[in-house]
This record gives sequence, C-alpha cells and structure tokens, in this order.
Amino acid sequence: MRKRIAVLASGSGSNLQAILEAIDSGEILDAEVVLVLSDRKEAYALERARLRNIQTKYLRVKDYAAREEFDRHAVCVLEEARTDLVVLAGYMRLITPLFLAAFEQRVLNIHPSLLPAFPGGHGVADALAYGVKVSGCTVHFVDEGMDTGPILLQEAVPVYDDDTAETLHERIRKLEHKLYPKAINLWVQGKIKLRGRRCVIDE
Ligand code: GAR
Repeated sequence: MRKRIAVLASGSGSNLQAILEAIDSGEILDAEVVLVLSDRKEAYALERARLRNIQTKYLRVKDYAAREEFDRHAVCVLEEARTDLVVLAGYMRLITPLFLAAFEQRVLNIHPSLLPAFPGGHGVADALAYGVKVSGCTVHFVDEGMDTGPILLQEAVPVYDDDTAETLHERIRKLEHKLYPKAINLWVQGKIKLRGRRCVIDE
C-alpha cells in the first residue's frame, strides 16, 4: 500500500517541492503527498500543492483560542486525509502532545543546523553568530521539545568567512533537498528502528 504523506509548511515550500520531485523520480517509492497544510495563507507551499492538484488546507491561527485547539483541528484534517506520515517542512509551530499522540513516531521534521546545536526558529543565524566553521541539517522524529527528537539523518556543510545567513541557508537548503527525501524513503520502506534515542537504519 502506498504511504500517504501530509506535508505541513509555513513558507516557500522548497522542501515540499524536493519531496514531490523525489516521488516523481522514484527516489521515494510507494508514497504520495495527499495533503499540504499551512498556518500561513500566503505560504508558497500551498501554491505549489495547488499547481499539482494536491489537497490544501489553511488553518488560521487567530481562529483558535489555544494551541491544542488548533492541533485538534489539524489532526482531524490529517485523519480525514488518511495520513500515514506527517512531514514538517519549514512549519514554524510547535506541535502539541495531543498531535503527537495521534501520530506516534509518525512525525518528521527537518532543521537547518546540526542538532542539538542551534534549535528553534533562527538556527542558521544563530550558528553563524556563534562562529561555527561547520553547520548542516538534521532530520529527526518530532517529540514534545523544540527540535529535540531522535535524529534520523544529519549532514554537514562548511561555513565560509564571507557567509551571510542567506548564503549559508541556501547551502543548507540544497542539502536538505537531498537529505529529507532520503529520510522519508527510509521511513516509508520501514527501515528505521528506534532504540531509545538512537535511530538505527536497517539497510
Ligand atoms: C528549511 O530550511 C527548514 O530547515 C527550516 O525552514 C526552511 C523551510 O524552507 N525549518 C526550520 O527552521 C524549523 N525550525 P522551505 O519552505 O523552502 O522548505
């Protein structure tokens, strides 16, 4: 059975695009993106989905009194779409325990730093300001913390003296576009085993 993936995105959706292209090329096998959900109406990720006739959903943050209520509705939408795997791709909201309970070990995130260094919403700028010589990206399972879940894959890029947050983020994004499809395919193929915090890949 093809795995049904929902992508949650708040921004441009270049990672969503990379995932869609990896499905087209067969790099991700036996999976399809069935829904793209966003908390930002103007997120270009939604437009990318519309262009491919993929179902989209925008949930307006202001319509919900609490984060749990927002997530309760999001879970309903995801369940209606019969989602197997939730992929956060530039989704700038913390997921609540209620959401995680509905999709246990089925929520992945990509973060633009080598975790556990520089979690949060400004990972690239924080790494640059700290003065690191190497940064990168991390695909991890989502848990209740901020970018603290078990790490699935990580890769590094160099940081150059003349880098700005933009140039460094661009280098990291290129890597993300390869690493995220690879991680998603491993999950879809059932090749990831969790031993405590450690993800073991069963090749
Ligand atoms: C990506 O670089 C992703 O790692 C980052 O947002 C960008 C989204 O780009 N996520 C975070 O910072 C999460 N804390 P995209 O919209 O072009 O895929």
